Amino acid sequence: MKVAGKVCVVTGGAHGIGRALCERLLRDGAAAVVVADRDLAAAALVPGGEAVRCDVSREADVLSLVEQALARHGRIDLFVSNAGIAESGGAEASNDSWQRSWEVNVMAHVWAARHVLPSMIARGEGYLLATASAAGLLTSIGSAPYAATKHAAVAFAEWLSITHHEQGIRVSCLCPQGVNTDLLQRAVREPAGRAVLMAGAVLEPAQVADFTVRALEEERFLILPHPEVTTYMNRKAQEHERWLASMRSLQRKVLA
Ligand SMILES: NC(=O)c1ccc[n+]([C@@H]2O[C@H](COP(=O)([O-])OP(=O)(O)OC[C@H]3O[C@@H](n4cnc5c(N)ncnc54)[C@H](O)[C@@H]3O)[C@@H](O)[C@H]2O)c1
Repeated sequence: MKVAGKVCVVTGGAHGIGRALCERLLRDGAAAVVVADRDLAAAALVPGGEAVRCDVSREADVLSLVEQALARHGRIDLFVSNAGIAESGGAEASNDSWQRSWEVNVMAHVWAARHVLPSMIARGEGYLLATASAAGLLTSIGSAPYAATKHAAVAFAEWLSITHHEQGIRVSCLCPQGVNTDLLQRAVREPAGRAVLMAGAVLEPAQVADFTVRALEEERFLILPHPEVTTYMNRKAQEHERWLASMRSLQRKVLA
């Protein structure tokens, strides 16, 4: 899919990867880019974007976002479920922390699909892009809510791709490793962020956005801006026990 002339909605569009995606979509001639974020003031600072306040952890907000975009533009060609949060800890992390992660990193994608797919299916075309993470294919040292919910986000995107392809719906899943954003800056104080720094290069959000738009043109499902993630995925699939041992070793280094 070429983004020129397309009506796009990007959640978490005010900062980081989402903001870079909005800027890139606008540069490539998108007809409209709705910048949806809980931080409305920052969303309004994306030049050429249409800022909408939306907390993706609330279904009513996601529904209202879709309704506003449809009322204004008559269609949504590309919906990017990008907003995400990284909570640290394991089984001991609070129920609130697990629940927040579940709602923002998974249910927001379900609610977006629930409310945007009917109009896309009626038109016989539409594109859903989910930002998951390399943590959704591999793991996240020190952050079980992030690893588990990002795996669920990948699983849901795969399911949508299988189920709705014949109806003209295309789905991609962006799984970056380290990207230089506020989320990573916060995480480097914790094992999760330090592990990311040890695992490979940190890309700039604009590099991820460029790579993503090229992958959308090819309608590729899995978007992996860090080539090493493909290597790690293959190792995990081929020699799972050895991959677990290498992750334990990475954890030892991170905690040392
Ligand atoms: N930065 C990385 O290293 C990295 C790596 C892999 C995946 N990701 C994923 O990329 C996505 C974007 O992350 P980022 O690094 O740009 O982070 P970021 O913190 O820079 O930006 C996240 C944006 O989402 C918004 N947001 C958060 N919760 C929201 C909510 N409930 N409703 C609406 N908006 C909300 C924030 O206001 C912010 O604008 C996330 O899904 C994240 O998990 C990031």
